[in-house]
Amino acid sequence: MTALKNDRFLRALLKQPVDVTPVWMMRQAGRYLPEYRASRANAGDFMSLCMNPEFACEVTMQPLDRYPQLDAAILFSDILTIPDAMGQGLYFETGEGPRFKKVVSTLADIEALPIPDPHKDLGYVMDAVSTIRRELNGRVPLIGFSGSPWTLATYMVEGGSSKDFRKTKAMLYDNPQAMHLLLDKLAQSVTSYLNGQIMAGAQAVQIFDTWGGNLSAAAYQEFSLAYMRKIVSGLIREHEGRKVPVIMFTKGGGLWLESIADAGADALGLDWTCDIGEARQRVGNRVALQGNMDPTVLYAKPEAIRTEVGRILASYGKGTGHVFNLGHGITPEVNPEHAGAFLRAVHELSAQYHE
Ligand code: CP3
Repeated sequence: MTALKNDRFLRALLKQPVDVTPVWMMRQAGRYLPEYRASRANAGDFMSLCMNPEFACEVTMQPLDRYPQLDAAILFSDILTIPDAMGQGLYFETGEGPRFKKVVSTLADIEALPIPDPHKDLGYVMDAVSTIRRELNGRVPLIGFSGSPWTLATYMVEGGSSKDFRKTKAMLYDNPQAMHLLLDKLAQSVTSYLNGQIMAGAQAVQIFDTWGGNLSAAAYQEFSLAYMRKIVSGLIREHEGRKVPVIMFTKGGGLWLESIADAGADALGLDWTCDIGEARQRVGNRVALQGNMDPTVLYAKPEAIRTEVGRILASYGKGTGHVFNLGHGITPEVNPEHAGAFLRAVHELSAQYHE
């Protein structure tokens, strides 16, 4: 494998010195880019982009070609590939978000769920990872990812996106044993899926716990964090002679940072509701931090974006251990030039915080 030309993203996650603060954006390959919309039209639809490694590679590279400041690439795929491989029948209704043909409602439904084999059932993702690694040729590291068991369970039980998670919460409180069985099967599936991505060439992995923040403090520990801890303890942590850092991102997890920091990951993703300087004090030396600009700041003008980047950098303060990102994914309405202003501001304004 070619040596990495830019490894500041991996170095910051491991709290090793860097020259400037590394930066990438959640959902950096997506609908705000006209070139992405053209590729999607060419492929037919979103899932065809995910399932064809050449298309997945093409759209992964688009933001990197447009923005030379990006310090990492992220696999183009979706968290819902796992439930799809479990036989739930994923499809996307235009403008409606993800849907499943089958929903999980009973203990019998859960008992019948298979644990997917990453190579047999999700081979298209493994192929996308190795194709992208080859195309990157050492330019920047490649991030693999998965959803957290809790976040995946919400989509499987609701049959799609939800505002209140009515069915999932009812199952959690009415039938905790069934919920635990579902989460346990998902944790096993996620562990082998992420290990498959690491063996195929992913150089860091992120677990997206998008809906963990919707749980009570007690339920978060028992139904989300416990399963992410289990996954992290089963991951391959070194490959190709380098550490493979793990990032845990619970949206809305700001109240629980101390316990998330103890769950075994190398870094925590922060949404924009917490102050990153305070978060740094709370987690101490245990983990690096990734985040955390409000993605809607990108609707403002470049000067205002630059001010906000400066404020977050100052709050984090001097030294390594910070990967700059948005607090959640970039939205389709953002002007691509504003994203460019954001990325440039991070590198330009952060040099002063590093030796
Ligand atoms: O970050 C990246 O660039 C990598 C690609 C990526 C996608 N989805 C592509 C995508 C990643 C990391 C995801 C993760 C994902 N998918 C999450 C967790 C992250 C988060 O945002 O909290 C979730 C909850 C999903 C499930 C999902 N996929 C939803 C709810 C939707 C519809 C959302 C919407 O904005 O319409 C998707 C579709 C999806 N996944 C798109 C992309 C680029 C848009 C599809 C399109 O082109 O129409």
